[in-house]
Amino acid sequence: MLERRPDNMERIATPEQAKAYIEEQIADIQAQVGDKKVLLALSGGVDSSVCAALLIKAIGKQLVCVHVNHGLLRKGEPEQVIKVFRDELDANLIYVDAVDRFLDKLAGVTDPEQKRMIIGKEFIDVFAEEAKKQEGIEFLGQGTIWPDILESEAGIKAHHNAGGLPEDLQFELVEPVRILFKDEVRIVGKELGLPDNMVYRQPFPGPGLGVRCPGAITRDRLEAVRECDAILREEFAAAGLAGKVWQYFTVVPDFKSTGITDGKRTFNWPCIIRAINTTDVMEVTVEHLAPELIDRLVQRITTEVPGINRVLYDYTPKPPATVEYE
Ligand code: XMP
Repeated sequence: MLERRPDNMERIATPEQAKAYIEEQIADIQAQVGDKKVLLALSGGVDSSVCAALLIKAIGKQLVCVHVNHGLLRKGEPEQVIKVFRDELDANLIYVDAVDRFLDKLAGVTDPEQKRMIIGKEFIDVFAEEAKKQEGIEFLGQGTIWPDILESEAGIKAHHNAGGLPEDLQFELVEPVRILFKDEVRIVGKELGLPDNMVYRQPFPGPGLGVRCPGAITRDRLEAVRECDAILREEFAAAGLAGKVWQYFTVVPDFKSTGITDGKRTFNWPCIIRAINTTDVMEVTVEHLAPELIDRLVQRITTEVPGINRVLYDYTPKPPATVEYE
């Protein structure tokens, strides 16, 4: 029976409380794992990163982190995972470049649910292959958090745990952030020394940029989404909006329109910007951007990103629109 959050557990809100939680978890992890090895899929998202940092503190190189680059991550993310975990925390990190494998499987696939299914299944296959190469693994680390448990119990969302791993890879779970709410995970992560842009990052869907490149994903359009997104994040950070706006991203739809660059006619994609706020994700409102910021985004995106000649702003709340485009 896995641990449940005690009803009377105080909400972690201070560095001291985070420190006490970390100490407790280190002792628990050491008692559970002993001198055995733990395998962890490290995406670089908040939950898996904090989970990894806790495990590294408790058992060091007995933790084997696997970072799968499926080609749908944001600009700089795989590099940051390597920098923070391998270089700074001296973790045992396996980096798997699976970009071609994912993009080849996704080529020509237009149906959003089929795209999600391919990404999910391929991820499990790649991770299972890496797991089989390892010797002596007895535990699977997971960044499951308390809302994941509550939502899966309420039937809202399928809990993304070991489900899917083949029979011969059913390890005992180690879930050191399982009883924490998201805000608590962030405080613990900060106390563990993880960088702010990792701990306070906005929500990012599992299928990543794959759902922001609607229809059949092509490498050139995917690259355009990634570059537009990087510019948007840079400009939001510069304008003091990072961490204030709940989620913001770009979409590059699969249609083209005419434009002019250096006096020559172009026929290129538009970039759609979406920036929204919410408390429960059931309803979202649109962030109204300052005109100067919009002008700067239009200027930078149309001049710096190959293949883009227009920038559009999505003013639609949810409902009637969803957050993502597919
Ligand atoms: P929607 O588009 O359903 O999005 O209004 C609500 C929130 O969920 C995120 N989202 C996903 N997250 N896998 C995920 O892990 C998915 O397939 C997925 N689809 C949407 C979305 O980014 C937003 O925060």
